[in-house]
Amino acid sequence: MPVTPTTEIISRAFEGRYGVAAINVVNDLTMEAVLAAAEDLRAPLIVQTSVKTVKSVGADVLMAMWRAMTDRITVPVALHLDHCGEREIITLCLEKGWNSVLFDGSQLSVEENQRQCAEIVAEARPYGALVEGEIEGFKRVEEIGADDAVEAQSLETAVEFIRATGVDVFAPAIGNAHGMYRTTPTLDSQRVTDIVDATGIPVALHGGTGMTPDQFSDLIARGCAKVNISTALKIQLMQSGYDYMTEHAGEYDPPKLFDAQRAAVKAMAEEHIRLFGSAGTA
Ligand code: 13P
Repeated sequence: MPVTPTTEIISRAFEGRYGVAAINVVNDLTMEAVLAAAEDLRAPLIVQTSVKTVKSVGADVLMAMWRAMTDRITVPVALHLDHCGEREIITLCLEKGWNSVLFDGSQLSVEENQRQCAEIVAEARPYGALVEGEIEGFKRVEEIGADDAVEAQSLETAVEFIRATGVDVFAPAIGNAHGMYRTTPTLDSQRVTDIVDATGIPVALHGGTGMTPDQFSDLIARGCAKVNISTALKIQLMQSGYDYMTEHAGEYDPPKLFDAQRAAVKAMAEEHIRLFGSAGTA
């Protein structure tokens, strides 16, 4: 089972009520490490790239890495473009072979977001690619004040956006944010149930880093079939690097540093795959 349409990976998870880890990678080392975690745990996996990573590494290089690293993989995996408001990057990634994209039109009016998102769904269909949509946008943890309420659109607006655009997965704001939460976030889990009940499509859970095991289980049971993790990877990658270099000051052997970083990133991915209930499902 090599590279598989994201739709297939997420539909199976939605039906089986487990979560697929969708992990943002930043380079070859992290891509290889998370794929190895999925392979070892017999779990499906979505590998995500941010727009920043697409620009810094290059779409061609990322795709060449992806093809080489998934050539012999035996669990279902897919490549996803995370939050992207730039239409030309979406088009580029679809053309190069990404399996799915998240159109981030959250800075636009809901009407304009809806109009453009419907165009992207039509653009993605011939490639068999999945489209994720959002209307609220996600703040970074640092931007949120202690008393800030969730700035959510009405359920009717969200349902109408999903219906009108034909998106396959929806990413609602439920009190989640990108980055490392200072305290356990208060999440509006009922909103996930309401969206799933009203539309029948799976929900993507953003801001996964720092949520509790109980929050993951509850939200996945309600229909969060795709669970995004990014900050945890960055922390593990960099902290393991700092730790290694501190312990081995004066040593100049990059592959040993990379081994330590790979082990830390792989362990992080394995921990989340287990928490999301997807280990052993592939
Ligand atoms: P974290 O960085 O909080 O894990 O969020 C990841 C995410 O939602 C990427 O879109």
